[in-house]
Amino acid sequence: MDDTELLFIHPEHPLYPEELELRFRVLREPLGFPRSAVAFPFEANSLHLVARQSGAVVGCVLFNPEDAHGGRLFQMAVTPTLQGQGLGARLVTALEAELQRRGFTHVHLHARAPVVPFYERLGYAVYGEPFTEVNIPHRHMRKSLRSAEA
Ligand SMILES: CC(C)(COP(=O)(O)OP(=O)(O)OC[C@H]1O[C@@H](n2cnc3c(N)ncnc32)[C@H](O)[C@@H]1OP(=O)(O)O)[C@@H](O)C(=O)NCCC(=O)NCCS
Repeated sequence: MDDTELLFIHPEHPLYPEELELRFRVLREPLGFPRSAVAFPFEANSLHLVARQSGAVVGCVLFNPEDAHGGRLFQMAVTPTLQGQGLGARLVTALEAELQRRGFTHVHLHARAPVVPFYERLGYAVYGEPFTEVNIPHRHMRKSLRSAEA
């Protein structure tokens, strides 16, 4: 049985240090960055959606509202042993549902180049020029949350 639950938390939540640790292990440590490189300046203003399984944080995705209509999805991470089982897609879908509920209409993100197909399956489209971030190739991607638009 899948006992994975998704919940929105704030940086004051007891699960937040675990969220940070997951982000460090999945997104920063493999690239050689220290723990101090995990937190973003807009951490407190962002939505934090975490997946919890048997009490442990096993996935997360964040959203930073940039204006009343849209913002940036970032820090998408699934613990390595659970990757490829649908949890990443479930997190993005749940985040988008909450964003729609709050009236947001646009999401953009910085996709690591090998992960572009993951976001394409979820309806995101590449735009602009390739760029480098955290020393690796990235693409800009975006999606409209208005159901009539692509
Ligand atoms: C990228 C990541 C978040 C995807 O989460 P996940 O739980 O492994 O992905 P899912 O199982 O939900 O995959 C959903 C779909 O995307 C596809 N997909 C996932 N990762 C992919 C990849 N790297 N390349 C191509 N397709 C991919 C899956 O095959 C699946 O396709 P399907 O709908 O046809 O079955 C996760 O693998 C991860 O944390 N990777 C390391 C950190 C990272 O790169 N984060 C993104 C930074 S931009």
